Amino acid sequence: MAKWQKAVAVDDFQKSYKFVHRRKEVAIFKLDDGIFAIDNICSHEYSQLAEGMVVNCDVYCPKHGSRFDIKTGAVKDFPATRGVKTFPVKIEDGFVWVKL
Ligand code: FES
Repeated sequence: MAKWQKAVAVDDFQKSYKFVHRRKEVAIFKLDDGIFAIDNICSHEYSQLAEGMVVNCDVYCPKHGSRFDIKTGAVKDFPATRGVKTFPVKIEDGFVWVKL
């Protein structure tokens, strides 16, 4: 069953943060309208989306440039053809919590 995990203090990262819990990697993004969490590993090959460039609500994979919607996990540009998983996020006591 999914449980809330304390990931990082809201003030401890600028745009993105890689959170690892029991070998599960999550990319947490701070956008203008909230904080969102998706799989950190690209659905194409191995690359870390937390290190990608963020433009508006999208992140570009740093390896081959696939574009993912940070809010929905949907893929918007090739070469990836599958989206990535999203995770519920809540802010409590100044910390980002992710439900994994
Ligand atoms: S590894 Fe992300 S697009 Fe290829």
